[in-house]
Amino acid sequence: MIHFNRNHININPIKYDQFIKKRNENSLPNYSQKCEELIAKKLSVKKSIVKLTNSCTSALEFVSQIADFGVNDEIIMPSFTFVSSANPFVLRGSTPVFVDVDKETMNLDPKKIESAINNKTKAILFVHYAGFGQNIEEVAAIAKKNNLLLIEDAAQAIGSFYNKRALGTFGDFACFSFHSTKNISCGEGGCVVVNNRKYFNKVNIVYDKGTNRDSFFKGEVRKYQWLSKGSSYPVSEYTSFFLYNELLQEKNINSKRRAIWNQYYKSLKKLKTDGFTFHNMIF
Ligand SMILES: Cc1ncc(COP(=O)(O)O)c(C=O)c1O
Repeated sequence: MIHFNRNHININPIKYDQFIKKRNENSLPNYSQKCEELIAKKLSVKKSIVKLTNSCTSALEFVSQIADFGVNDEIIMPSFTFVSSANPFVLRGSTPVFVDVDKETMNLDPKKIESAINNKTKAILFVHYAGFGQNIEEVAAIAKKNNLLLIEDAAQAIGSFYNKRALGTFGDFACFSFHSTKNISCGEGGCVVVNNRKYFNKVNIVYDKGTNRDSFFKGEVRKYQWLSKGSSYPVSEYTSFFLYNELLQEKNINSKRRAIWNQYYKSLKKLKTDGFTFHNMIF
């Protein structure tokens, strides 16, 4: 049987023992912060805010909340995607407007977007299908021209680039997944990248239950308070410890995946010459 996916978790037992020891001594480094810094480095973003979340779905919910999506808003997204692209916006009463994908790239078809824009359109959500960024530059230009937010659903795109620029750096926001089906995984997990400065002052508040607990931890306030609406997006130290170790192994993980891909390619190539058609650009 061919498995849909095999989860790559490769933790050195010594590292894990040290983690538990430090955990018991209350002297753990902040692994969430370490992951966020490493992701920012991988994306080459110095000015964006990266926050780990419990999943890509919750990262998208974070975006829908921070950008204040409501009942009068429409959001354009591809008709070919996973349910989590739409759910976070539907939960806030917004309407997803599905636009067809381009057959060659399986990403949003830029030619079909403008006819779907009206005065209720608030954003375009671009899915980097299978980690491919084709069409993102054209879609970013359309979003800019029409004064719309651009949200990258980069669930499948950690470590992917388009024209040497990391996916997740084109939009106002980007959301990644670290679910066990993804290249880099911690079982369940995700992260949000906030590229648009306009939202920076709300990030830590919405992220942590509408409170200024972040300022409290930084010693900026004596007590933390409930300031506005928010939810709970942080991940546990256990999850971030596992994720940090996986992020460090990205090169190995991807080269192993590439070797497996090449093996499939070699074995299945013949089918194409035999007249089978494959969608997508991999052949
Ligand atoms: C395009 C897309 N968006 C969102 C998600 C949701 O990711 P998660 O399972 O981390 O919530 C997925 C998961 O496969 C996905 O493929």
